[in-house]
Amino acid sequence: MDTQQMLYEGKGKKLFLTNNPQEVLVEFKDDLTAFNAEKKGSEQGKGALNCEISTAIFELLIQNGIQTHFIKKLDSTHMLCKKVQIIPIEVVVRNVATGSLTKRLGIEDGKILPFALVEFYYKDDALGDPIINDEHCKILGITQDTTELDFLRTQARKINQILSEFFITRNLRLIDFKLEFGKDNEGNILLADEISPDSCRFWDKDTNDKLDKDRFRQNLGSVKVAYEEVLKRILQK
Ligand code: TMP
Ligand code: ASP
Repeated sequence: MDTQQMLYEGKGKKLFLTNNPQEVLVEFKDDLTAFNAEKKGSEQGKGALNCEISTAIFELLIQNGIQTHFIKKLDSTHMLCKKVQIIPIEVVVRNVATGSLTKRLGIEDGKILPFALVEFYYKDDALGDPIINDEHCKILGITQDTTELDFLRTQARKINQILSEFFITRNLRLIDFKLEFGKDNEGNILLADEISPDSCRFWDKDTNDKLDKDRFRQNLGSVKVAYEEVLKRILQK
């Protein structure tokens, strides 16, 4: 594996250039952050768990016709991905009200939403990732093209359907999750970033126990045990 210089370091991952200009190496870190990195921690083995969980989810989505940046898993903490230009929007899909939605709108925690809610947040740490709408996207120059935003919404809903149906067979409720998309050099919009318990909320179907990064955010303990449980259920036949 011929790696070159680091392209970018985020809160949960590092990206490296490779000898192929169309491909990047993604390294999953053990670091955990929350509340725009106001809270920091680390959990040994978390990077490897997220790499394996993300791999399984990307493979499931690809089998179901979703175009993603994922090429292959290389080792415990690395995957090879197509190089994309990330669209600076965090696309959040919510099936159940919790987290920032309950705080913002006063909806009761745990209330099942009448339909999957898709929200856009501007990916900008300095601004704290504020929620934005289509007009903000135009003003910010993210896109002049509403059809691109409609495409993100359509993909997000399709992904939600595929993942919700899959996870319920594994006794997990997919409460909400965050997606990022990027454009390849031909302008195709691919699902990018990662899909893991860092970026999703999973509640146990029977007990509603939280099996995701809320265990870190809310000091519930057993972070790694929860991620291991998610992986175990994903891999079960
Ligand atoms: P929220 O309720 O805090 O807005 O989070 C909604 C979903 O998005 C939840 O599954 C966690 C995920 N998320 C991220 O992946 N990154 C972030 O920076 C934030 C704020 C949320
Ligand atoms: N990912 C964000 C951070 O690292 C927020 C979060 O996931 O709660 O600060």
